Amino acid sequence: MKILTVSSANMDLSMRVKLAPEKGQTLTGDSYKYVPGGKGANSATAVAKLGGKSVFCAALGNDSNGKALMQIYESTGIDTSYILTSDNLPTGLAAVTVEDDGSNRIVIFSGANAALSAEHAIAAAKEAKPDAVFCHFEIPYKTVVELSKYCHEANIPMFIDAGPADSTLELSELAPITVFSPNETETETFTGVMPVDDESCVLAVKKLMEKVKAEYYVLKLGARGVAVYDGSKLSIIPTYPVKVVDTTSAGDSFTAAMTLEYMRTKDIIHACRYGNAVASVTVSRAGAGESIPTKDELDEFIRAMKITI
Ligand code: ATP
Ligand code: RIB
Repeated sequence: MKILTVSSANMDLSMRVKLAPEKGQTLTGDSYKYVPGGKGANSATAVAKLGGKSVFCAALGNDSNGKALMQIYESTGIDTSYILTSDNLPTGLAAVTVEDDGSNRIVIFSGANAALSAEHAIAAAKEAKPDAVFCHFEIPYKTVVELSKYCHEANIPMFIDAGPADSTLELSELAPITVFSPNETETETFTGVMPVDDESCVLAVKKLMEKVKAEYYVLKLGARGVAVYDGSKLSIIPTYPVKVVDTTSAGDSFTAAMTLEYMRTKDIIHACRYGNAVASVTVSRAGAGESIPTKDELDEFIRAMKITI
């Protein structure tokens, strides 16, 4: 199954702190590491590690971070044919603080991600002939909108992980897609409703339906798992109990794994269970792309937890 991820690539400066600083406060961190990140790169990594054909369309800077990331993608088995190198913008950077409970706060500098054009993305989709296209909102919104129109016309299933959210994005500009998947705060940004229980999940989805047409709406609810709405019924798919180390890339690995498994089986509930299992392993390890399990590691987790997906 070939998935084309058209999205962001960042180098993450990931620093562990007991508690994130308050405004005006300076704190000493416990450790730091530069790790491959970026919502798009994390998702393209998940597809490759889980046995899909992963094609990544992104933009890097002509700098040491860009070169290091490119090498990592190639050694992960990602097809990098559609990765652009910008001569005047640096590789995207994310400053990530991870607290003792595994939660994170992230500030990104877009850099070269801002150079990923609709023309380049559509050319990649035409040439790569993917089974599905996957995007986030960490690249120019126009690129995502134009790509959604192309995918709709060409009958290519499109999956959107709606992060990061910005209330100024006109979701109604998107062509109909297969799955629209925001997390809790992104859902609130787009709808004004925080999905805290079944009733608010349904209300939030109804508000999303007025803006963006999708076959399925999958709300990511952190430790509670996900809520899936198929146009008539809401199903809550719980996640698995694990010791949380670092939640960075939990959402990226969930939506990528869900996309891959949905394309393999056409069963959205099963695909969400699979995505939850992948994300559960991801949150139990440190880092962004590096924390995502391979197919073998996922199989081992499923055996050890004695669960059926
Ligand atoms: P991120 O931006 O950190 O990548 P997100 O905010 O987009 O993630 P979340 O809703 O936090 O997405 O999490 C995505 C998925 O990760 C959840 O649906 C769940 O499967 C898994 N997950 C998140 N937090 C936990 C947790 N504490 N325990 C187990 N699984 C979790
Ligand atoms: O979703 C996690 C990712 O968000 C990080 O890897 C960071 O680079 C930002 O894009």
